Amino acid sequence: MITPNLSELALKHGTDKNSTHYYTCHYEQHLERFRHEPVRLLEIGVGGYEDPSLGGQSLRMWKEYFPSGHIFGMDIYDKSKLLEERITILRGSQADRAFLDAIGTKHGPFDIIVDDGSHVCEHVIAGFTGLWPYLCSGGVYAIEDLQTSYRKTMGGSRTGIGPGSTMDLLFRLANGLNYAEFDIVGYQPTQVEREVVSIAFYHNLALVQKGNNNEPGGLPPHPHNRSFFAGWGGMKVRLAERATRGDIWSKALSVGIGLTRRAKRVMSE
Ligand SMILES: C[S@@+](CC[C@H](N)C(=O)[O-])C[C@H]1O[C@@H](n2cnc3c(N)ncnc32)[C@H](O)[C@@H]1O
Repeated sequence: MITPNLSELALKHGTDKNSTHYYTCHYEQHLERFRHEPVRLLEIGVGGYEDPSLGGQSLRMWKEYFPSGHIFGMDIYDKSKLLEERITILRGSQADRAFLDAIGTKHGPFDIIVDDGSHVCEHVIAGFTGLWPYLCSGGVYAIEDLQTSYRKTMGGSRTGIGPGSTMDLLFRLANGLNYAEFDIVGYQPTQVEREVVSIAFYHNLALVQKGNNNEPGGLPPHPHNRSFFAGWGGMKVRLAERATRGDIWSKALSVGIGLTRRAKRVMSE
């Protein structure tokens, strides 16, 4: 028997994840490893809005894709009619921190969280902030419909760059991946910075993976070592910097100990 892939299941169950949008091929790439695991997947946004009997297409797609999985669908409207075996329906808003804590505590942690809710940037950020603690290590947090970051009416801006947009959150998370390289002595990474290990971007879709982002800072000379108090290596780098900037005494000292050429090389690295 040929097992259908996620794109085929999207079409079968009628979610727009492989018609209006083209997300399922990307999901498949990142989620196939979970296929036969007893995953717990939470999707924000059941579908059908006010109509209690409409929606649930993507929940049924996930249920068939993960034959041993349990699917949780959450919506601001009452979708309890869509309850079925291996599908749990929850009612509440992704912007409600107390609600997120309650469902995270009761039903989490989740292996996969998919945000296909309101897509209002403020709500997306609230959902991510509130649910990230309830994502398993090794798990994936997906955010769909990033086009709203470019719609002022949804909390975005013309270029997506600017405080408050979902893309701004993702840009900051991407930068935070390199927190060990920040040139800030004694910098204390946030919990999320310590846990985001990868972010995959596709058109209007991002997948954030959780793990241990605890690799030490990169190749020498690391800025944290640029101190007279960080030993001989640090002193040489500091001297090199000053000499290159034109500090006459440092230059003299550098020449004296043959550092200038090395200094310039170090500075250009
Ligand atoms: C695009 S539909 C979801 C479609 C579904 N995931 C699918 O692919 O078949 C968005 C859903 O999000 C729900 N929604 C809107 N605002 C929400 C919020 N603040 N919290 C949770 N759900 C919300 C809407 O009621 C609607 O049913």
